[in-house]
Amino acid sequence: MSLLSSVERAPRDPILGLTEAFQADDRQTKVNLGVGVYMDESGKVPLLKCVQQAQQQLAQGRAPYGYLPIDGLKAYDDLVAGLVLDDPVTGAAAAPRDRVAVVQGLGGTGSLKIAGDFLRAVSPNAKLLISTPSWENHNALFSRAGFDVQQYPYYDATGHRVDVDAMVAALGEAEAGTVVVLHACCHNPTGYDLGEQDWARVEQVVRERGLVPLLDMAYQGFATGLAEDGAAVRRFAASGPVFVTTSFSKTFSLYGERIGALAVVCDDADEAARVLSQLKIIVRTTYSNPPTNGASIVATVLADDQLRVLWESELGEMRDRIKQMRTALVDGLKQARPDVDASHITDQNGMFSYSGLSKEQMVRLREDFALYGLDSGRLAIPALNPGNIDRVVDGLAQVW
Ligand code: LMR
Repeated sequence: MSLLSSVERAPRDPILGLTEAFQADDRQTKVNLGVGVYMDESGKVPLLKCVQQAQQQLAQGRAPYGYLPIDGLKAYDDLVAGLVLDDPVTGAAAAPRDRVAVVQGLGGTGSLKIAGDFLRAVSPNAKLLISTPSWENHNALFSRAGFDVQQYPYYDATGHRVDVDAMVAALGEAEAGTVVVLHACCHNPTGYDLGEQDWARVEQVVRERGLVPLLDMAYQGFATGLAEDGAAVRRFAASGPVFVTTSFSKTFSLYGERIGALAVVCDDADEAARVLSQLKIIVRTTYSNPPTNGASIVATVLADDQLRVLWESELGEMRDRIKQMRTALVDGLKQARPDVDASHITDQNGMFSYSGLSKEQMVRLREDFALYGLDSGRLAIPALNPGNIDRVVDGLAQVW
């Protein structure tokens, strides 16, 4: 037996693997309701105008491609800390910048992995809790980082709501030092977020029990707006240490640039400097230092008042179009299947709808109608547009 002859074939990735299957399908009517990628009315990933203008500015500057610092482009790190931690209305910082260690990351996933590797190194016996359900890659990447990944209750499928009582009760029993992964907004996959009072309860139990909060914020601005969607992060940052990962894949439509960040709010500046030094070792030994282009684009937009206003309006357009498609889907289903109540779809936030359909129904949607949603029943709403909504309604009405 050679070394490689015994290597087992791994299963396809539940999300990106579905895109592979979608691409291999030659039916013209197919729709990819799987991966969380925003598409415009014409079914294309948009190139935002603010990004185009930033690209033009950068092209005129023609900077050479040297290495970035290990922790990333300094202007980017500072601007992202501001975006994530400052109140957009008052400008007040939830935590002073010198208490925050920031590293540029490779999208949300890369930033989560840096956080996971760091936490595992400093707290090797800690458990890590994710929500039931959670984004498939949370379990995969934190397990891979060596954590014993367990779950806290989150979604009540019967009531179509967050079961915050069960969540708080479970967190109240977690051991001190347990890492708790929370979705800052646009919960993936359910689309159900905590309200302000719920966040207050969760924050209280996290602090009382001495748990370690890690807020994953990949969709800031896709639920209500930048300020509202960032409120949970600012709440935690104001009350103690917190890990925050963010991503500009969706909000800037920069998927392929792999641009995100990890911000760690620490107790004081000396602690932040020590944490940053350790984060840099993880980056250096994983990919040395991050790429330039995405960070330059995001930093250019965030630093320029006019581009930032343009970005916020384009973000608002994406958010509004998703909401319109939710309504169109619910209205279409009401017509096609008056016996079915799909109204929960318009209560959800962000890109996804947790439809409640079973794995068997999702497989049938794929096989009989070329509609590719996740086995969990998750549907990516931004894949819908006026050209395919009737087809999707028809398929759903037949399997529901
Ligand atoms: C998703 O959940 O579909 C997105 O976050 C894309 C991904 O990397 O899984």
